[in-house]
Amino acid sequence: MDRLRIVGGHKLQGGVTISGAKNAALPQIAATLLSPYPVELTNLPQVSDVENMLGVVALHGAEVTRAAHSTIIDARNIVSTETTYDTVRKMRATVLVLGPLLARFGQARVSLPGGCAIGARPVDMHIKALAALGATIDIENGLIVASTPNTPGGGLKGGRIVLASPSVGATETAMMAATAAKGETEILNAAREPEVADLAACLIAMGAKIEGAGTHRILIEGSTSWQPAKHHGIPDRIEAGTYAVAAAITGGTLELTNARLENMAATVQMLEFMGVSVWPSDRGLVVSRDGPLRPTDITTEPYPGFPTDMQAQFMALATQADGATLIRETVFESRFMHVPELIRLGANISLQGTTAVVRGGPPLRGAQVMATDLRASVSLVLAGLVSSGETIVNRVYHLDRGYEQLDRKLRLCGADIERISA
Ligand code: UD1
Repeated sequence: MDRLRIVGGHKLQGGVTISGAKNAALPQIAATLLSPYPVELTNLPQVSDVENMLGVVALHGAEVTRAAHSTIIDARNIVSTETTYDTVRKMRATVLVLGPLLARFGQARVSLPGGCAIGARPVDMHIKALAALGATIDIENGLIVASTPNTPGGGLKGGRIVLASPSVGATETAMMAATAAKGETEILNAAREPEVADLAACLIAMGAKIEGAGTHRILIEGSTSWQPAKHHGIPDRIEAGTYAVAAAITGGTLELTNARLENMAATVQMLEFMGVSVWPSDRGLVVSRDGPLRPTDITTEPYPGFPTDMQAQFMALATQADGATLIRETVFESRFMHVPELIRLGANISLQGTTAVVRGGPPLRGAQVMATDLRASVSLVLAGLVSSGETIVNRVYHLDRGYEQLDRKLRLCGADIERISA
């Protein structure tokens, strides 16, 4: 297993190019299963979650053709509507193929994701959404077995879906399935994340009729006439936010090419509150800090609130602030695996339930730490950038799931970081 070796104490300077959004790419790859025409996706990040998802659609029979900046997925000849435990276990987002397969073929068998590192993460809302469109769903031996009425004129029927909470994945499942249902679907309490709006843009390019994606109410006119499509996904706002924190934590200046302010308002607002300057440039955003960091109060929320996917990075940043920062996690019930590892680096953090108090001030010292999930892992890298001496981050495969060439991008702007292959 690869490791990262970081020697802290270098201010980052220069530019970082932000890749396409992983969380936009995954549902878009799943969505290609809806259509018998090729879909070209031109901004997929080169990360292992995306490779896995391409592998999943290929297992179902889709033809995947990759070039340097474009991937064409042709799902004309689907050979299987069953996704095994092994693929779902590797990546929870695999469950996103359920809606498209069911909607197009009238049946799908997808393994239940089970527990994962950041909490139970059930898929009950995905299942209820499909049931609201007329699907019959049973759980058999750990499999979600879904089918549509097998009568003349059967298939999914448009309807009203009211989500109990604005789940990103359930909104995406509902939206994809509804494009192939008969009649109109209304999704209420929909997630408003930019990745949901970008999935709608991709589906619209493929021929779907969708209004309101990015708001709480999405309307979909079903029975799509599919067509060949090309879509350029949005930049990764979490990757951009992570490099913004890298600039802030080291007291450096970075230009984040492709970053979009409009998708990152809560993150930028929090940086500014803490004493970090952020301004737009022709190519993206510039982030810079030369004064002290102020402590703050962070509560994670669904978009447009402060993203749970930025919580761990801001906890690393808060270790450098002058005073106590309160961090409340409200989206996932156990998303603090980075806390014991940050403490190993010398951070003063106390945890009570879903609230962490970070007392900034004590200098961090390099140590061996263990990556546990994607965002927890990157918080250890950020902390390593300001720890004295050497930090070794083990289990780098977690980072490879969602950060394209993290060590190279950081090295190019002055970090002392290298990847050690086992
Ligand atoms: C997506 C993102 C993930 C991010 C999360 C919240 C992708 C591939 N992943 O995950 O990076 O952290 O949004 O912004 O886009 N829940 C249920 N039942 C369900 C579905 C969800 O109880 O059927 C719960 C989850 O356990 C969690 C909360 O709802 O506590 C939010 O989950 P959700 O928005 O669905 O996250 P994901 O789509 O899995």
